[in-house]
Amino acid sequence: MEKSVESMRKIVLSMDFLEPAYGYNKLSKEEVIIMKNNCFTNQVAIVTGAGSGIGKGIALDFARKGAKVMVTDINEEAMAATKKQILELNGYAETYYMDVSDQEIVEKVVTQIYSKHQKIDILVCNAGLTSPPVLGIDMPEEYWDKLLKVHLYGTQYCVKACGNYMKEAKYGRIILMSSLAGVFGLAGNVNYAAAKTGLIGVNYTLAKELGPYGITVNAVQPGIIRTPMAAPALATLEEALVGDTPVKRIGESEDVAHAVSFFCQKESGFITGTVLRVDGGYILQSGMDSIMLQMCQQ
Ligand SMILES: NC(=O)c1ccc[n+]([C@@H]2O[C@H](COP(=O)([O-])OP(=O)(O)OC[C@H]3O[C@@H](n4cnc5c(N)ncnc54)[C@H](O)[C@@H]3O)[C@@H](O)[C@H]2O)c1
Repeated sequence: MEKSVESMRKIVLSMDFLEPAYGYNKLSKEEVIIMKNNCFTNQVAIVTGAGSGIGKGIALDFARKGAKVMVTDINEEAMAATKKQILELNGYAETYYMDVSDQEIVEKVVTQIYSKHQKIDILVCNAGLTSPPVLGIDMPEEYWDKLLKVHLYGTQYCVKACGNYMKEAKYGRIILMSSLAGVFGLAGNVNYAAAKTGLIGVNYTLAKELGPYGITVNAVQPGIIRTPMAAPALATLEEALVGDTPVKRIGESEDVAHAVSFFCQKESGFITGTVLRVDGGYILQSGMDSIMLQMCQQ
């Protein structure tokens, strides 16, 4: 059966997504496939730090799946490039300068988005940065301030600005961007590790607080992902990292986007307060395993 994506979008929009099984039964197999590929049709998704790397990957993935993507960042040029790519996919994007560490700007931008669209379905708190490596005992206070301000306070500002709109709508999907550094620390970046571990506590707490309002909160913990942020590490460590990763490759932004997309679907409403590692199994590495694997091959 030949049906255009546009006509499928209309079908999707006319369906009650809260009853997916009921809706699916009325559709053919082909229609269900197209519908799943458009699972965010008409949804408004805010992605912070969407000008680069993982945030850009998430923004593109949402756009491919039909969302109206609010591309936010502090890098205007990078945001414009993300928007251009989304438009080339026939997707929908708007760009907003939003420094997540500035509460006033966050509130202003989120209010602007809400006034225009009358809803915010998805918030992905992805924006982030690192600071130059230095031992924790020597770390200057401004490194702490800057990192916590973006990763922890920035997340809080965004959740606060979007949360009441989501509460009113009795619906929302919030994603927090943690890291493997939040599981086992990161030498030279104690501030980053502290922020990423802190986000797990934020994740668990917000999940409890917002669950009754139909809002789910989940965290993603990427391993090393090929982005500008990870480029310096990859320049020297790529081979070793691949060697220590069971799936034998470096992660890509699309790998993280896939996990985020799963959490953000309407059907994922019973999944909240979880933490999903996206690391190709890297965390499982142990010297013992490589010895055992060698023995298996003998
Ligand atoms: N790349 C990795 O290996 C990796 C691993 C684990 C977690 N992460 C996390 O994933 C997220 C994205 O990282 P990435 O690798 O894509 O980095 P990236 O440097 O490629 O992109 C980060 C984006 O965030 C933006 N940004 C920085 N400060 C901001 C602020 N104050 N307000 C708004 N935007 C701001 C930057 O302009 C940039 O576009 C970060 O939270 C990072 O900590 C990355």
